[in-house]
Amino acid sequence: MIRLDGVHVRHKARSGGVFRRDAVHALTDATLEVERGEIVGLVGESGCGKSTLARVLTGLQKPTEGRVGFHGRDLWSMSAAQRRDDFGSAVGVVFQDPSTALNPRLTVRQILRDPLDVHKRGTREAREARVEELLDLVGLPGHTLAALPGQLSGGQRQRVAIARALALEPELIVADEPTSALDVSVRAQVLNLLVDLRERLGLGMVFISHDIQTVRYLADRLAVLYLGRIVEEGRAAQVAGAPAHPYTEALLSATPSLLETTERIVLTGPVPSATNPPSGCPFRTRCWKADDACATVFPAPGSGPDGHRWHCVHPQIPTSPVPSARSTA
Ligand SMILES: Nc1ncnc2c1ncn2[C@@H]1O[C@H](COP(=O)(O)OP(=O)(O)O)[C@@H](O)[C@H]1O
Ligand SMILES: [Mg+2]
Repeated sequence: MIRLDGVHVRHKARSGGVFRRDAVHALTDATLEVERGEIVGLVGESGCGKSTLARVLTGLQKPTEGRVGFHGRDLWSMSAAQRRDDFGSAVGVVFQDPSTALNPRLTVRQILRDPLDVHKRGTREAREARVEELLDLVGLPGHTLAALPGQLSGGQRQRVAIARALALEPELIVADEPTSALDVSVRAQVLNLLVDLRERLGLGMVFISHDIQTVRYLADRLAVLYLGRIVEEGRAAQVAGAPAHPYTEALLSATPSLLETTERIVLTGPVPSATNPPSGCPFRTRCWKADDACATVFPAPGSGPDGHRWHCVHPQIPTSPVPSARSTA
């Protein structure tokens, strides 16, 4: 459905001299595919480029370099009108903080009608009916339609944001840390709503989180980002059950699951700057396995079964077969 090929995003640094602004390497050589109906989990620490990748996937950010393919068509070779009409209606986005993502002056009814009006979907009556259907889909009561976002709870606001993302019947939803700004008590409800909608509507979903434990059971596939690079990717059960990359191992051990007894790995040293990333492997400055070989070039891809890929000079190669997703579900 969507395919990124060798995508780079470089920003001008906010700091730097008058004559030479440094570049922030927000995303480097990202290649990622999202198939129809699948959930891809995207994980990594704050600042590693998750939101940048979300913006590329939703067409909000044009890559500095590389290609974004949508059903085989090059997104940035389309006319602006095609990109808005064909792509814009096929991809919905849910941001982290619903209190800033929704216009505070519009009622919920107006917020949900807006995309239908912009894309001229159906008659006036059909749009009204669709608004009510959307509200129902995300489990909000009818009287919410007259409310302003400020009169709703955080969880209700995020449901409105999800309903808006669904308005044009997208094929893909990109959810960028959709529960991080919410109370712990409502996080699971919003998470379950997204999973339930995906089942019912057959949507594809890119689910972004800094917490690998949140995403591992939800996603079909996982991609792990470090300092703008996808360092490991594969079937979720494989990546989380038998990670090849030490960084993935460290992420898993930072918030241990109840089922596993792993030695806790504590990462030492600061996250390097995205303005001046280390040579070779970006993780080597914090990696307990790093040696001189890691400092030369970005490691060539290693690969395992079912599209499992990693970029590491000293990977942990799985020795025993990992159970299939079905038997661990
Ligand atoms: N508009 C921008 N201008 C300059 N730097 C930016 C901009 N947007 C993001 N960055 C930088 O790009 C890197 C990746 O940011 P982001 O994608 O927001 O990461 P994440 O969502 O994983 O926290 C960070 O170093 C961030 O400071
Ligand atoms: Mg972010």
